[in-house]
Amino acid sequence: MTFPLIAPSMLASDFSRLGEEVRDVVSAGADWIHLDVMDGHFVPNITFGPDVIKAIRPHTDKVFDVHLMISPVEPYLEAFAKAGADIITVQAEATDHLDRCLQVIRSLGKKAGVALNPATPESVVQYILDKVDLILPMTVNPGFGGQAFIADVLPKVERLRAMIGDRPIHLEIDGGVNPETGARCVAAGADVLVAGSAVFKPSGNLSGIEGYRANIAAIRAAGARAQAKAA
Ligand code: DX5
Ligand code: ZN
Repeated sequence: MTFPLIAPSMLASDFSRLGEEVRDVVSAGADWIHLDVMDGHFVPNITFGPDVIKAIRPHTDKVFDVHLMISPVEPYLEAFAKAGADIITVQAEATDHLDRCLQVIRSLGKKAGVALNPATPESVVQYILDKVDLILPMTVNPGFGGQAFIADVLPKVERLRAMIGDRPIHLEIDGGVNPETGARCVAAGADVLVAGSAVFKPSGNLSGIEGYRANIAAIRAAGARAQAKAA
């Protein structure tokens, strides 16, 4: 598989045509589908819940990468697992019991992820490294698409890559990713790039699926160049 993996965030898609947008972005080259769940409490925005994820599940076999920005999160893990999530990522700040949350997600047969807000130190994952499948240092403050990339997070990405070592843990970046910022993240050690606005925007005079294809290709190519340079 060619790294970095590209995970378009459906937050930037046309919600009135969600199933079709999932199919289009998959045809355009998406590796994973990133689904942002927001509760208006942990973050100042509300999106969708398990029923919507269940409704779009039949539209693709690609990995559903579900990013939960909700608190409390524990009571809803099973519902997201049943709705068809493949990876369930919780925000470290949204639970007092991160270790237990990760164990519950794995016991539901799903991959377990942990997301860290920009100001949250990497040390929160130090003692759960053997219980996690994905670590997601946020490069914006969660809540909205289209925000500017916070470059101060890059040293944290490098430190997380070093902490991960040989473990089979994905290091995913989310927030303000475009070809330029995505390449910097890959150089710092990321292997999965989430991108919302940078995928769903028109590319030159290309819009819809052709635009998505050009955008995904541009992010992937910039990431692959950065990776080749770093190797
Ligand atoms: C932000 C979400 C992101 C968001 C990214 O809270 O977690 O996944 O959709 O959007 P862009 O790529 O536009 O910054
Ligand atoms: Zn996200």
